[in-house]
Amino acid sequence: ITTPTTTSATLSATVPDAPARTATPRHFLMCPPTYFDVVYEINPWMDLGVPVDTDRALAQWAALKAAYEAHGHTVEVIDPVPGLPDMVYAANGGVVVGGRALAARFTYPERQPEGGAYEAWFAAAAAHGVVSLGQAAEQNEGEGDLLLAGDVMLAGTGFRTSRPAHAEVAERLGVDVVTLELVDPRYYHLDTALAVLDAGGTAAGGPAGSHVGSSVGPVVAYLPEAFSPASRAVLAERFPDAVLATPRDAAVLGLNAVSDGRHVFLTDRATGMHDLLRERGFEPVGIDLSELLKGGGSVKCCTLELRTAPDRPTTDPR
Ligand code: ARG
Repeated sequence: ITTPTTTSATLSATVPDAPARTATPRHFLMCPPTYFDVVYEINPWMDLGVPVDTDRALAQWAALKAAYEAHGHTVEVIDPVPGLPDMVYAANGGVVVGGRALAARFTYPERQPEGGAYEAWFAAAAAHGVVSLGQAAEQNEGEGDLLLAGDVMLAGTGFRTSRPAHAEVAERLGVDVVTLELVDPRYYHLDTALAVLDAGGTAAGGPAGSHVGSSVGPVVAYLPEAFSPASRAVLAERFPDAVLATPRDAAVLGLNAVSDGRHVFLTDRATGMHDLLRERGFEPVGIDLSELLKGGGSVKCCTLELRTAPDRPTTDPR
């Protein structure tokens, strides 16, 4: 009964390798790397022997924030806390669906105080359309392992976020959860091994049946080798048209990307990924985050999405 609001389905019939893509404005939370450093090693990327240039990290972070704003997105900023060098990886602070925010419960003691810092921000963010659900009871590293693809939450486990945390997310955020098992320690968070490029035709976080626009399913990119055989089979079945990344692009964290449905913000080093994205009608926006790579993170790690309203409001003129 509603007319599709995008033309991607029509165009993909005539230009199969470059469908039209539509950007929707996003609302992000970021934390400046004021106190960023590598002073402990909790993933294979972190090396105490490699010095960090904090000023450079700050400049690179500011460029990412500016790139979001230049593309029409809104960025909120949480105050960094001295002594929490990884707080810049805001994606780990929690997960927000339909304006309801579940703060993280971190795996390693070095990061555990960040859970409270993000919870406090959510609790004071009513003006931004956020209601806090408090901190997760289970081990949960937020959007590092919890990526909403349409109306399904893809949930990583194996290194950080636990399986019981997946059940908690399903219950407390009211979403269907698909568990994916990570097997390569370099890709310890789901957002290092998989990126959601397009949420598809259903309003993310919207009530069941709030389907508007086209009926195109979500588009994701991932590195098959990062997943267990069973999870690979789940991904292949669910996302037959996925963009398959190469080990080379994954190794510069080319999958640690943020997409607005059209523009995909990712490291400038993942040049093969840039080409694959262009072939699929996306516009890669290359960002240099070389300093933040020293902590094992890139673009997506630095970005928490505040899903405060359906991101595809209906344009039905009724
Ligand atoms: N040093 C951080 C850690 O190991 C990096 C977190 C990266 N964040 C992410 N969303 N993948 O916890």
